[in-house]
Amino acid sequence: MRFSMSTYSSLGKKIFMGFSGLLLCGFIVVHLIGNLTLLLPDKDPFNKYANFLTTELGNVIYIAEFLLASVFLIHIIYAIIVTLGNWRARPQKYSVVRDAKHTSKKSFASKTMIYLGIVIIAFIVWHLLHFKYGELIMYTTADGKVIRDLYIVVYKFYGNIVNVILYIAVMALLGFHLSHGFWSAFQSLGISGKRFTPFVFGLASVFAVLMAAGFIALPVWIFIITGGAL
Ligand code: HEM
Repeated sequence: MRFSMSTYSSLGKKIFMGFSGLLLCGFIVVHLIGNLTLLLPDKDPFNKYANFLTTELGNVIYIAEFLLASVFLIHIIYAIIVTLGNWRARPQKYSVVRDAKHTSKKSFASKTMIYLGIVIIAFIVWHLLHFKYGELIMYTTADGKVIRDLYIVVYKFYGNIVNVILYIAVMALLGFHLSHGFWSAFQSLGISGKRFTPFVFGLASVFAVLMAAGFIALPVWIFIITGGAL
């Protein structure tokens, strides 16, 4: 098999996309696990966890946030480059889009990755404004520490039905983005095989459903138990 220079650079782009995408999947898993402490009636575990990350880690958190932001940025930049490249390579839209079986999986998610990505970026900006840079309420924990009450900020936010509905919608779209992205990352990194590829395809669907369902469960649960009363 021969590769031209453009094939090499297109391979490089795909590797950046795949690798950054898998790192972001890792972030999402860790973020969901940490957020599950929001389901507890006691607010101390979630607030102590958030406080540990933001204040007790010292400069480590700035390095971690810088790395996370860089991975997001790399993912976004290469997503734009790859999408523009695809559009240029195929100026005419296909009249009929078929699943190309072993070599490609065309679906709602695969055809809308860039649009779903744009929605997710807008979501993250909105998300950070409300939580990370949202209202600063302090309280004293059971063991006498004065820390930020992020738990109450999140609970107040999900007491609003409009916020809950918007979250459910975006998390469903995130699920579609992950279902194609997770599978596609392995293809981009060249990790494939007769048995492995269908396995990863199935695993991607399970992963996407678990993540979307987990992130949807939080606002729904909080809305139900607070009755929108906070
Ligand atoms: C129900 C769903 C979610 C809840 C309740 C939630 C909650 C939070 C909270 C409370 C923070 C602030 C943490 C702090 O300042 O200590 C945060 C930060 C963040 N969230 Fe979420 N989140 C959810 C879903 C998501 C999703 C789906 C994504 C990505 C697609 C995401 C991306 C982020 C990012 C990038 C940060 C900033 C992390 C940092 O600066 O260290 N979140 N989230």
